[in-house]
Amino acid sequence: MSETQKVSASDNKRRDAGGTTILFFLIGVAISLALGWIIFPKLIYSKKSQPIDFSHVVHNEAVGDCDSCHFFREDGTFSGSPTLAECIDCHEEAQGDAEDERIFVEEYVAQNKEVPWLIYSEQPDCVFFSHAAHVKKAEMSCESCHGKIGTSETLPIYEENRITGYSRNIWGKDIAGIKKHTWDRMKMDDCGECHEEETGDKGSCFQCHK
Ligand code: HEC
Ligand code: HEC
Ligand code: HEC
Ligand code: HEC
Ligand code: HEC
Repeated sequence: MSETQKVSASDNKRRDAGGTTILFFLIGVAISLALGWIIFPKLIYSKKSQPIDFSHVVHNEAVGDCDSCHFFREDGTFSGSPTLAECIDCHEEAQGDAEDERIFVEEYVAQNKEVPWLIYSEQPDCVFFSHAAHVKKAEMSCESCHGKIGTSETLPIYEENRITGYSRNIWGKDIAGIKKHTWDRMKMDDCGECHEEETGDKGSCFQCHK
């Protein structure tokens, strides 16, 4: 072997070693991306089903409007999730043969026990939120904050953050924080963004915190 051949042979080896390092680096990046984007969100959120399923489509047809179940009380406060009082007129006895209705009638209506619904939009205890200010005064639609739940055939799976205990709907599904609809996320900054647009300032801490 000549001197020049020796040099280029060891050059090749060094280049190979460089290539392997880059390959391992890329595999490492791919693994951490998979951990961060796919596995971590799966680990951090636990999935829960509602006690019984409920079809808004069936009920909007049977009842006619949202107000029968989600209404403002005389004092201006919002009723939120319905109680048995909003169901009992029709479900004293089963109307059909759906399994969810059987469970509802036997385990809740007959025993006069409220259904422990999971609230997708539930904010931490320290947050103050008023439906009247948004729905009545600012005339916002339910959909603009809640999405299409009110016209769905089935209640979505509820996802709870194992560390904070908060619903995933608050921090959003997309961990990169990309927002395609106004209802994708309802974090502090999302509330503040609209307040700034509508009123010209983000508001003081005590507007939203008790
Ligand atoms: C017959 C009663 C009934 C009617 C009518 C009804 N809903 Fe509901 N709604 C429910 C029940 C039961 C739930 C499940 C409990 C929950 O998540 O609050 C629910 C849940 C919701 C939620 C999810 C709230 C959350 O964050 O958990 C939204 C939003 C909603 N309804 C909007 C609507 C809209 C909009 C309409 C009218 C188009 C409507 N609903 C009509 C009974 C009703
Ligand atoms: C105006 C009458 C009416 C009221 C009020 C009403 N329901 Fe129903 N509900 C129905 C009818 C009709 C069906 C369909 C029965 C069938 O054909 O299987 C139904 C079906 C159901 C079912 C079976 C699954 C589904 O959604 O199709 C559940 C569970 C249920 N209702 C729960 C409730 C709860 C909880 C409330 C109160 C928040 C309520 N209903 C209020 C009429 C009513
Ligand atoms: C500006 C955004 C916004 C609008 C508009 C809005 N909501 Fe909400 N909704 C929220 C937030 C935030 C919560 C959680 C409040 C909390 O945890 O204190 C909530 C909670 C709820 C709940 C669960 C309440 C409970 O604790 O039982 C229901 C049901 C609901 N909203 C239905 C509706 C309906 C129906 C409309 C339209 C008439 C509507 N919302 C309009 C933001 C909104
Ligand atoms: C898309 C716009 C929008 C979003 C999103 C929004 N708000 Fe508002 N909010 C308003 C407007 C407009 C008003 C002023 C209504 C009025 O007094 O005329 C308001 C008023 C309020 C008030 C004052 C109520 C009162 O009576 O003094 C509170 C508290 C509040 N918002 C909390 C929140 C919180 C918490 C969130 C997020 C979970 C939120 N808002 C999301 C538009 C929005
Ligand atoms: C427009 C309403 C709004 C205003 C104004 C606001 N916040 Fe918040 N804040 C929220 C909401 C909604 C949450 C819950 C969602 C989240 O964590 O982003 C929150 C969460 C927080 C949390 C985390 C609490 C927890 O349990 O996770 C802290 C801390 C906080 N806010 C401090 C402040 C301070 C300090 C200010 C004043 C500079 C302020 N906030 C102003 C709406 C508001």
